[in-house]
Amino acid sequence: MSNTKQILAMLKSKTEGDDETFFSIAIQVAAAEARKGHRRSAEEIRAEVDKARANKSFGASVAIPFAQPRGDLEGLLEMRQPRFRLKDVVLNERVVSRISYILRQQRKREWLREHGKTPSRRVLFVGPPGSGKTMSAEALAGELKLPLFVIRLETLITRFMGETAAKLRLVFDESAKHRGVYLFDEFDAVGGRRIATNDVAEMRRVLNSFLQFMEEDNATDSLIVCSTNHPSLLDRALLRRYDQVLEFDAPSSDQIKAIVQANLKPMKAPRIGWKKVIAAAQNLSQSEIVRATDDAVKTAILDERNSISTDDLLLRLRERTEMRTVFSETEYPD
Ligand SMILES: Nc1ncnc2c1ncn2[C@@H]1O[C@H](COP(=O)(O)OP(=O)(O)OP(=O)(O)O)[C@@H](O)[C@H]1O
Ligand SMILES: [Mg+2]
Repeated sequence: MSNTKQILAMLKSKTEGDDETFFSIAIQVAAAEARKGHRRSAEEIRAEVDKARANKSFGASVAIPFAQPRGDLEGLLEMRQPRFRLKDVVLNERVVSRISYILRQQRKREWLREHGKTPSRRVLFVGPPGSGKTMSAEALAGELKLPLFVIRLETLITRFMGETAAKLRLVFDESAKHRGVYLFDEFDAVGGRRIATNDVAEMRRVLNSFLQFMEEDNATDSLIVCSTNHPSLLDRALLRRYDQVLEFDAPSSDQIKAIVQANLKPMKAPRIGWKKVIAAAQNLSQSEIVRATDDAVKTAILDERNSISTDDLLLRLRERTEMRTVFSETEYPD
């Protein structure tokens, strides 16, 4: 694009309130500068664009263009305003660095595209229940100031028996139109797990469509996040399609401490015996530790206290461990 054309396009996008186009043209100008060897000017433009983007108010950029899906999409997608940022999730270093890498690619996606590269956008989260997979998808959306759309495949398949592939098409079309984080939660449903239906042919069709849709180019760079507890059930052909696979695991001692500490508010907690607390939380998931801590805080509030002791925490952590034992020892008919 020539300079005049660029200026005209920028003016037009500004009048139409289309910030994304406005910034994207500015990035094109930066790339052109870089190609001419004007690295300083390129960097300067890009830094200004980053700053302007960061300044756009959080609520406005999420809430205005994206309303709860209606029409054909109703019942397929559930929109959630992200409540978390990356700092709210307690994760191991490996996962944090992977997530940061994805964020970096997404933030500089135009820059990558200018150089003929595609940003990572198909991600698989693997890990035990309650380890923060859904929370991290929400944090990704929160960091990128994008809405989170949750798709429950199991519901989709049972509800739209025979037309699941067509419904999936609608979801992927939407992801190409509206940039967001699209979370396919409980993804094992397509990976072969027995679900409410035994229709193998339908599952094959769904899986094949999914594979095909995952391959399609997506100019909006929406993120497709799939989350599962059972990676072994996922089709190999499917695993290959992901740009990144992130493994979540049970919390380490440091992570147990960090999760408890982050959830103690508004209580004071002087002199906590961390060794005992960590030992009591050993077999619990991140989610169970959050709940146990929350129970201890609630009890203190009800007792009209303003601080929490080691014993308060131990009591609730043990309670959670017992609940878990009851569940695993009781046999429920399928
Ligand atoms: N890593 C974590 N750091 C902080 N809080 C966490 C973490 N993991 C889980 N939690 C807490 O537990 C809740 C449930 O976690 P989440 O839904 O993300 O688990 P999940 O891995 O998606 O589990 P599932 O496999 O059952 O879907 C979160 O809303 C949060 O309060
Ligand atoms: Mg989840």
